[in-house]
Amino acid sequence: MTGSNAPTGSASPMNKPAKAGGLAGVVAGSTSICTVGKTGTGLTYRGYAIEDLAEHASFEEVAYLLLEGSLPSTAALADYRARLSELRELPPSLRTVLEQLPPDSHPMDILRTGCSTLGCLEPEGSRSGRDIADRLIAVFGSMLLYWHHFHHDGRRIETTTDDDSVAGHFLHLLHGRPAETTHARALDASLILYAEHEFNASTFAARIATSTESDFYSAITAAIGTLRGPLHGGANEAAMELIEQYPDPDAAERGIVDALKKKTKIMGFGHRVYRDNDPRSNVIQAWAKRLGEAAGDARLYPVSERIEAVMRREKGLFPNLDFYSASAYHFLGIPTPMFTPLFVIARTAGWAAHILEQRADNRLIRPSADYTGPAPRPYVPLDER
Ligand code: COA
Repeated sequence: MTGSNAPTGSASPMNKPAKAGGLAGVVAGSTSICTVGKTGTGLTYRGYAIEDLAEHASFEEVAYLLLEGSLPSTAALADYRARLSELRELPPSLRTVLEQLPPDSHPMDILRTGCSTLGCLEPEGSRSGRDIADRLIAVFGSMLLYWHHFHHDGRRIETTTDDDSVAGHFLHLLHGRPAETTHARALDASLILYAEHEFNASTFAARIATSTESDFYSAITAAIGTLRGPLHGGANEAAMELIEQYPDPDAAERGIVDALKKKTKIMGFGHRVYRDNDPRSNVIQAWAKRLGEAAGDARLYPVSERIEAVMRREKGLFPNLDFYSASAYHFLGIPTPMFTPLFVIARTAGWAAHILEQRADNRLIRPSADYTGPAPRPYVPLDER
């Protein structure tokens, strides 16, 4: 751990100074993987602007970039796609475990348990961290959708398809047919946006677990548990639940103004590091608009735009990646409880890159605390209390 303990003091919404606490503004280590809010474009992976990657690259290309440090050649990318395609099969014991998990489990719990189970079935041992990273990126979609179809349609699905992308594979397994090209591309772009974000809470959890010299699966399991909360990855599901409450933009405006009066947090808005804009939001908003138009939507996107306008006007707050991801995913026919699991699939690339980076120059992450408890005092025996 390096750096100062002082908050940055940058302006927060409505020009309030940033609050202390929550390690805000604390530099907790160094990384060569990603910058957040440090450059003109706001977000870079290995030096490349997120806007360029989301427009021109594929998720597989970005995962390779994060894990290897450089963009793949055409041949290397083809090999990587083929490798991920080969890793989609579930071991029989994992299928059995997934069948035993309750049908009303949250899909995030399925991935957390599935990851942990795979750690028993295919333990790190002689496997490299890099191999486990690929396995998890490839297999998380299979895990979730095997469990989903088993419990919801009573079917034991095959988890291999001939799709050459993680996004296409996921949509194919979910809907039982190959995805439309635009839909696969929209999900692919979203996975790129979700793939990495410096020392966010779940990545930091993965780095902490790694710093104890624990195994790869434990670090990813810790990260999944951390991502689950609505202040982090769970916000995309919470945003959807909010948006779909409103029949039209005027009702949304009234509802949000009312919620803000009650000091309710509006999910999908604000960010710990970005102060004016989340550069990922513009990209996913364009996709949400396009997908909504194609789906003949006259409600969710207009409601979302109005919520954005009200939040800017009332709180000076901007949408983060999770807000427009919600309607984009909805237009792809993805059930709301699978929104955060998709974040897991994408962010596994970033988590894995951080685990490998932490291992390459490890020191136990163990900060200190300001003590606020009682002064030293003598022990009182049980019969004198
Ligand atoms: N809705 C309403 N008010 C919000 C808000 C939101 N989404 N986000 C921040 N604020 C307000 C806070 O209430 C606080 O106001 P106060 O000073 O009057 O108490 C102020 O803005 C600062 O917020 P704070 O929670 O201290 O910021 P943080 O850096 O600790 O938290 C988030 C950042 C992301 C956790 C926070 O913005 C949030 O909870 N957003 C909603 C969840 C979300 O979308 N998470 C995904 C993040 S990518």
